[in-house]
Amino acid sequence: MILSQLLNYVAVLFFCVSRASSLDTFIAAVYEHAVILPNATLVPVSPEEALAVMNRNLDLLEGAVTSASKQFNCFLKGHTHSSFQGDSSTRVAQGAHIIVTPEDGIYGFNFTRESIYPYLEDIPDPQVNWIPCNNPDRFGRTPVQQRLSCLAKDNSIYIVANIGDKKSCNASDPQCPPDGRYQYNTDVVFDSKGKLVARYHKQNLFLNEDQFNAPKEPEVVTFNTTFGKFGIFTCFDILFHDPAVTLVRDSRVDTILFPTAWMNVLPHLSAIEFHSAWAMGMKVNFLASNLHYPLKKMTGSGIYAPDSPRVFHYDMKTEEGKLLLAQLDSHPHPTPVVNWTSYASGVEAHSMGNQEFTGTVFFDEFTFLELKEIGGNYTVCQRDLCCHLSYKMSEKRSDEVYALGAFDGLHTVEGSYYLQICTLLKCKTTDLHTCGDSVETASTRFEMFSLSGTFGTQYVFPEVLLSEIQLAPGEFQVSSDGRLFSLKPTSGPVLTVTLFGRLYEKDNAPNALSDLTTQALRYL
Ligand SMILES: *[C@@H]1O[C@H](CO)[C@@H](O)[C@H](O)[C@H]1NC(C)=O
Ligand SMILES: *[C@@H]1O[C@H](CO)[C@@H](O)[C@H](O)[C@H]1NC(C)=O
Ligand SMILES: *[C@@H]1O[C@H](CO)[C@@H](O)[C@H](O)[C@H]1NC(C)=O
Ligand SMILES: *[C@@H]1O[C@H](CO)[C@@H](O)[C@H](O)[C@H]1NC(C)=O
Ligand SMILES: *[C@@H]1O[C@H](CO)[C@@H](O)[C@H](O)[C@H]1NC(C)=O
Ligand SMILES: *[C@@H]1O[C@H](CO)[C@@H](O)[C@H](O)[C@H]1NC(C)=O
Repeated sequence: MILSQLLNYVAVLFFCVSRASSLDTFIAAVYEHAVILPNATLVPVSPEEALAVMNRNLDLLEGAVTSASKQFNCFLKGHTHSSFQGDSSTRVAQGAHIIVTPEDGIYGFNFTRESIYPYLEDIPDPQVNWIPCNNPDRFGRTPVQQRLSCLAKDNSIYIVANIGDKKSCNASDPQCPPDGRYQYNTDVVFDSKGKLVARYHKQNLFLNEDQFNAPKEPEVVTFNTTFGKFGIFTCFDILFHDPAVTLVRDSRVDTILFPTAWMNVLPHLSAIEFHSAWAMGMKVNFLASNLHYPLKKMTGSGIYAPDSPRVFHYDMKTEEGKLLLAQLDSHPHPTPVVNWTSYASGVEAHSMGNQEFTGTVFFDEFTFLELKEIGGNYTVCQRDLCCHLSYKMSEKRSDEVYALGAFDGLHTVEGSYYLQICTLLKCKTTDLHTCGDSVETASTRFEMFSLSGTFGTQYVFPEVLLSEIQLAPGEFQVSSDGRLFSLKPTSGPVLTVTLFGRLYEKDNAPNALSDLTTQALRYL
C-alpha cells in the first residue's frame, strides 16, 4: 500500500518534471524582410564595405527579432495561458521561441563567384559547441555570426538566418574548384543561449546561383528543442526529394524552417500557396520567410500547420517588411495516411460532351476541359493521370471561364522535375488559349468543389488560392481516399484548386530523356 502510494507519487513527480521540460505549443515568428541590396554586386568590394551593407540589413533584422521576442503578452490577449503552464515564467516574458529570416536576407542577390566572396565567413560544424557571442575570435573573422549569436542570446530566442560559408580546398580533392574554395548558400540556427546549433548548405541551387557550390551529398540537418524537432532546407530545395522529404519521412521532424527568396509564379507556384500546400501534404509545421522585393515578385511568407495556415502575408503594393507570429503545436497531431488514388480510381469518367483542348501552364502542356455549366462532374486525363472534379459555382458568369486540367510529365524549364497535376483554374480571359496563363483576380465563388486524381505518388500537395492571392484557411480538407474538398462555400472568388503531385523517382528516368529533349527544343 505504502509502496504503491510512493510509486504514484514518483509517477506524478516524473510527469510534472517532464511536462516542465517540454512544451505542447510554441510561438513561431517569421519575418518578411525588405532587403537592402549592395550597390555593386558584379565587382568585388572590400570586406569592410561588405560588412557595412550586411550590418544595415542586420539592423532591420534586429528590430524584428526584438519585437518578436517582446510581443508575447500582447499576442496572447484573448488566448488562454493554459498551454504554457508547463514552462517557467521567464518564458512568458520572453516572447516568440523562434524566428526565421529569409534567404539572401543579409547580403541580397545578383552576385558572381568573386563578388560574393567578401561577404562569406567560415562557418564551423555545430559539433564544435560554439557561442560566437562569448568567444568571437575562435574561428577567425566572423562578425556576422557573432552579431546573430548575441542577438539570439540577448533576446533569448532561436534565430534562423541565411549567410554564406567558405571552405578552402586543394588538389588533394579532385572536385576542388579552380579558385581553391567551396562557397555555400548556408542556413544557420543559433539557440536562445547564442550557440550555433545547425548549419545547412543548400543542395538544390536555383538557376544562375553559380556563385555557390552544392554540397557533395545532401545534408539532413535536424535539431531538438523543448518545443519539438526541427529540420531545415532552403527555397528551391522544396521541389526535390533530398533533403526535404527525407527530413519529414525518415528524420520525422515536427517543424520545417524555410528561408527563401521566392519569385511568385501563378497559377501553381506562388509562395504562400505552394508552401502551405507542402505543409498539408507532408503533415508538418512549416515556417516560411520570404524576401520582400516586389520588383522581382518576391513576397509571401507564412506560418503553416498541417491542417491549415495559421498566418500568412502577401504584399506587392508596399516596400515594407512584415513580422508574423502564430502559435503552433510542438508535435502536430498525426492525421490518417491519404491514399491519393483511392477515390479517383473508382469513379466513372464524365466529359459532359465537352471538347478537350490543350493549354500551357508554366511551360507544361496540360489537357483541359472547359467547365461550361454552373455545376457538374468532369473527368480529364493525360497519360496515366485522370482527374475528377465535382463542383458547383455560385453563378455562371459570361465574362469568366474556368477549366479542369491534367498534366503528367517532366517539367524542364527552370529545373527538371516530374509532375502529376490535377487543377481547376480560372482562365486569364474567356479565350480558351489563355487557360493556364498567370491571372491574379477572379469573380466567381464556388458553392462546393471536390477534386481527385489517379496519382502514382504519395507526394501530393493540395492548393487552394483565392482572388488577389489569398489563402482559404479552414475552408477545405483532404479525405483519406484522396479528395480535396470544400467544407463550405469559398470566402472569395477562386483562382485555382489544385492537387500538385511530385514523382521524384521519375526525375532522372531514362525514358524521360526524350521528353526533355523535345520540350527543351520547343522552348529554346
Ligand atoms: C548606394 O548608393 C547610394 C548613393 O550613393 C547611397 O545613398 C546608398 O546608401 C548606397 N547603398 C548601399 C547599400 O551602400
Ligand atoms: C543584376 O545584375 C544585372 C546585370 O548582370 C543588372 O542588369 C540588374 O539590374 C541587376 N539586378 C538587380 C536587382 O540589382
Ligand atoms: C589540402 O587539404 C587537405 C584537406 O583539407 C589538408 O589536410 C591538407 O593539409 C591540404 N594540403 C595543403 C598542401 O594545403
Ligand atoms: C531528439 O529527441 C528525440 C525524442 O525525444 C530523441 O529520440 C533524439 O535522440 C533526440 N536527438 C538528439 C540529437 O538529441
Ligand atoms: C490505394 O487505393 C487503391 C484503389 O483503391 C488501391 O488499389 C491501392 O492498393 C491503395 N494503396 C495503398 C498504398 O493502400
Ligand atoms: C455528380 O456526382 C455526384 C456524386 O457522385 C452526384 O451526387 C451528382 O448527382 C452528380 N452531378 C451531376 C450533375 O451529374
